[in-house]
Amino acid sequence: MVKPIYVLNGPNLNLLGEREPEVYGRTTLGEIGEMAAERAKSHGLSVEFRQTNSEADLIGWLQEARQKASAVIINAAGLSHTSVAVLDAARALGKPLIEVHLSNPYAREEYRRHSFVSEAATGVICGLGAEGYLFAIDHLARLLEGP
Ligand code: DQA
Repeated sequence: MVKPIYVLNGPNLNLLGEREPEVYGRTTLGEIGEMAAERAKSHGLSVEFRQTNSEADLIGWLQEARQKASAVIINAAGLSHTSVAVLDAARALGKPLIEVHLSNPYAREEYRRHSFVSEAATGVICGLGAEGYLFAIDHLARLLEGP
């Protein structure tokens, strides 16, 4: 049995659907979680889908994923742009890591154009809304299948 893909979401993503819908869309995080579980299932995989407003939780979950996950998808939200500690935990992961952003940070404010997390990411998907999570799952499914 393949270990679950951890899908980790950072601060304020619990407000998806209500928060700046013109930027982040109207899909709620609960709905993204359901779509992610369904897509993973279609590949014979599972997800462990979580959200936190705490940097400490995110670091703890990345550390937990070292043993318990097959791969990680992370939207560290605002912490992407500020947290060396999240980057350090991501570097220690030793597994495929896909960074996802719903919006396209490069088309937004200057301070969103750098992500610490990207330095440890296998790949980055941004600007494709909730679909980005699903593309990340499709990619990981192929990767985890092996040659
Ligand atoms: C975000 C982009 C970040 O810049 C922002 O702080 C977020 C959400 C996204 O998914 O588009 O909270 O990660």
